[in-house]
Amino acid sequence: MKKLLLICVLSILIFAMTACSTQQPEPSVTTPPSDENTLVAYFSCTGNTEKVAEVIAEHIGCATFEIVPEQPYADSDLDYTDSNSRVCKEQSDALARPAVSNLPENAHQYDTVFLGYPVWLGKAPRIILTFLERLDLNGKRIIPFCTSGSTGITGSLEELHSSAANARWEDGTRFGQNFIQTDVTDWVDEMLAINDKGGYTMYIYVNGTRLTATMEDNSSAAALKEKLQQSDITVNMSDYGNFEKVGNLGFSLPRNDESVTTAAGDIILYQGNQITIYYDTNTWNFTRLGKIDNITQSQLTDILGQGNVTVRFSLN
Ligand SMILES: Cc1cc2nc3c(=O)[nH]c(=O)nc-3n(C[C@H](O)[C@H](O)[C@H](O)COP(=O)(O)O)c2cc1C
Repeated sequence: MKKLLLICVLSILIFAMTACSTQQPEPSVTTPPSDENTLVAYFSCTGNTEKVAEVIAEHIGCATFEIVPEQPYADSDLDYTDSNSRVCKEQSDALARPAVSNLPENAHQYDTVFLGYPVWLGKAPRIILTFLERLDLNGKRIIPFCTSGSTGITGSLEELHSSAANARWEDGTRFGQNFIQTDVTDWVDEMLAINDKGGYTMYIYVNGTRLTATMEDNSSAAALKEKLQQSDITVNMSDYGNFEKVGNLGFSLPRNDESVTTAAGDIILYQGNQITIYYDTNTWNFTRLGKIDNITQSQLTDILGQGNVTVRFSLN
């Protein structure tokens, strides 16, 4: 009898201890995104696009942002068989811009935005256009993706492009409602691999301004990227010929010289070891490394200023 009592007491104690331990609040651990320059923004009503967005963000290690309509879509709103439903009215009205209840904070910090949405009646939901038109996406790389029953992405792209005409648009892709996770991650790798070969983004810090440059797809720009992956490169640059700032890199890169007539914003490799930022024209045999995005000649000369200047080149 005593033995039975002891077992009962012990069981109650063990149960109480387990119950207590499960009532402990879970420590909240928020892992900061490892890629702070990429955002996965998405709109999703029934969860399919959201699942793809989460796979992309987890694979890259970047943040997600859900585009939330100010007025949520009820089931009856989504009834595309009813020509009077909200979705049919919105999708047939090219000017409809359903309000968003939120926009990403610090949108300027993102260089690349994966943009996800479901296909609605052959196109992107109009709220995606609202989102694009409310943000300044000038020069940003936008990689669209959609989910759908069967319709591809192509039919939705033209409207998207005109809502953010100054962005750098990729063609994007479609996933089915029951997508395979590795199809998504393979596609993301493909998108990011474009950057590995060339066409990557480099940042130029000069006189308190950060300029963005799109780099060439050649072995010289690729070798420069390898150097930048090790550390930022700071170069003391001086004016030459009233058309460029030039400075010594301190190392040599492979040359891909050809006859080039420069324009303001061109980044050029001269004699294999000197980097130049052009603010005017010159014709010579040298290697294109890249070009500063969306900048006029007068903006560039204002930023570079007169005389010697210290310039930092970086991938971040
Ligand atoms: C209003 C509405 C319209 C749709 N129109 C299409 C269409 O034109 N083509 C298609 O393949 N699928 C269409 N679908 C299916 C959705 O694109 C698909 O279920 C999508 O994965 C939903 O994404 P979500 O779960 O992120 O909202 C439509 C669904 C809804 C609700």
